Amino acid sequence: MKTGVCYYPEHWSESRWAEDAAHMRRLGLSVVRVGEFAWGRLEDADGTLHLDWLERAIDTLHEAGLDIVLGTPTATPPPWLLARLPDLLAVDELGRPRGAGSRRHYCFSSRPYREECRRIVTRLAERFGEHPGVIAWQTDNEYGCHETVQSYSNAAVAAFREWCAARYGDIAALNEAWGNVFWSMEYTSFDQIGPPVGAVTETGPAHRLAYWRFSSDEVRSFNRLQTDILRAHSPGRDILHNFMGNFVEFDHHAVAADLDVATWDSYPLGFLARDDADPLDRERYLRTGTPDNAAFHHDLYRGCCPTREDGERTAAHTGRWWVMEQQPGPVNWAPYNPAPLPGMVRYWGWEAFAHGAEVMSWFRWRQAPFAQEQMHTGLLLPDGAEDVAAAEVRQVADEIVRLEGLDTVTRQAPLALVFDYAGDRAQRIGQPGARTHDPLTFTQAVHGACRRLGLDIDIVDPEAALTGYRAVLVPTSTIETPSLVRRLGALRNEGVHVVLFPRTGSKTDEYRIPDALPPGDFRRLIDIRVTRVETLPPWERSIARRSAIRRSVARRTSVSEADALRENEAFAIPETVTTHLWREHVESPFPPSARFPDGWGFHYRDGTVHYVNAVPEPESLRALLGSVFTGAGLDPHDLGKGLRTRHRGSVVFAFNAGPDEAVLEARLPVSAGLASDTPLLFGSRVLPPAGLAAWQVRA
Ligand code: GAL
Repeated sequence: MKTGVCYYPEHWSESRWAEDAAHMRRLGLSVVRVGEFAWGRLEDADGTLHLDWLERAIDTLHEAGLDIVLGTPTATPPPWLLARLPDLLAVDELGRPRGAGSRRHYCFSSRPYREECRRIVTRLAERFGEHPGVIAWQTDNEYGCHETVQSYSNAAVAAFREWCAARYGDIAALNEAWGNVFWSMEYTSFDQIGPPVGAVTETGPAHRLAYWRFSSDEVRSFNRLQTDILRAHSPGRDILHNFMGNFVEFDHHAVAADLDVATWDSYPLGFLARDDADPLDRERYLRTGTPDNAAFHHDLYRGCCPTREDGERTAAHTGRWWVMEQQPGPVNWAPYNPAPLPGMVRYWGWEAFAHGAEVMSWFRWRQAPFAQEQMHTGLLLPDGAEDVAAAEVRQVADEIVRLEGLDTVTRQAPLALVFDYAGDRAQRIGQPGARTHDPLTFTQAVHGACRRLGLDIDIVDPEAALTGYRAVLVPTSTIETPSLVRRLGALRNEGVHVVLFPRTGSKTDEYRIPDALPPGDFRRLIDIRVTRVETLPPWERSIARRSAIRRSVARRTSVSEADALRENEAFAIPETVTTHLWREHVESPFPPSARFPDGWGFHYRDGTVHYVNAVPEPESLRALLGSVFTGAGLDPHDLGKGLRTRHRGSVVFAFNAGPDEAVLEARLPVSAGLASDTPLLFGSRVLPPAGLAAWQVRA
């Protein structure tokens, strides 16, 4: 792994550049990103280009031994461009143009703006495409940041109509697909279709899903315009984009298909302060971030750019990914912006390494003394002296050298989690106004439960190769996905455990309830029908008991229940399971594993396929998954609250995000390979808060 930093040469006097570059090298940094907001300094209103200063900056950095990632500046159309093209602005739900004066004010659907982007990206690619210092390009910056994916401009609505015409062919087909007969919403022409906002009450869910898909496709084609230019002019350079955390407003798998490397921007403390997180977690992890949030995104983005061999996709764990921006200290944009615990900057660097990152790059080099982000720390203070993160950044670079020569190849994890962006959206579209579980939060809870059980996990897209996994978790496949069902069926036949969570297959591609009822197509894996769903307020808990099955067996002396009971005992689903927020009533030819007091069942299992028909609370989720993984022949072991492990090649890492010391030998299973005589590569056997350790597993 290389380390790097985000740098804005245009913010500082040219006389500083050489010293900055030398200082970066002294901290062990070898990658530097520049240019992504510099359009205003690259071009004048009359079209005159000023690329010489950027070339001098790139030369200076390159001469110091740094590799450059050059950003395209399209997130920041300057005022002169807006004056020329006032319609480039995105428009909000109330029909108001998004104001200029910051960034990301453009609408993805503005065709004239795309032409301007084509021009500036082409000029940059022609000038710098083969510069020996430029190793990669970043397209734009954080697509969608500041709620900018969906726009309701005239350009967007016109493009949406075209998108609908291409998808549905004729208007009758669209009316049928969306169920427009419902409230006399049938159109007689594509020209009558508007955006699904601003209506008196909720607009059609299929209309909303279509608008989400359209907007996601607009992001993809906007990005593709740039990647085509860059590939043509900059052979051999990687093309990447910096995605965000906790962000599902477009299909990242689709956008990443046009990239070489998925990168993301990691702000663990900012996310925790901003999220709707558990108040106890917020207190406990205030200065460390939760133990699983960054790891979730590392695993998610690792699966976004699987390497291709002869055009064929290989397994998700091989995907190339970086952290493009890493929080180095307090940020400026969250409701509260605490300083990380000493050690966390190093911890975040090593955590990324453990998950397979190629590059860990901090944001930003030097704290800005002017404009918007003055409260945001960097590696240097505004006066150019080192801030506290610098020493830990240097430490990571020094420590990485110690792993040279060891086997650190990222291997396939035992578990896969299939993440479907459209399925996540379909759950959100669900019932506006109804408050139930958030699909991304629930997915993160499933992922976190696996990690707390000491198991590594790959997050994969719905089309990914699934061979080689011992268990596959399916939390957001709300929309029927025949190809996924086929691949899961093949795994089931090999004895792999497949866990389907609530709402799986509950909608068709056009947001209807499947004819055969949920889980629709997924019924080919497990023969159940969901006949009713209920959502519950957060204070209501439903407790399912295994012994309730035992009692019903005694009452009904049903042979099949008795058989199931025996099997379940062998399988050892927890005696009680507490669920909340969402519950489904299931009909099946075989009994559930447990029952709620009102007779509804919980957890249906046919061989190695599981259907979890309610949202378990964290402890119950962990206990349930623990029993599944034991059944799959794995060795789950509860590491406790703040401690996590991760394998990379022969090296095992342990991280402590909790507020208390963690005594490793007392908390880790034998399979972690830490015996009393195992030498540590670094760290200690008693991990302080923010501490980490690494050792090699013996073959
Ligand atoms: C990111 C963004 C950066 C900077 C940073 C501050 O979202 O890409 O440009 O604004 O946040 O934390």
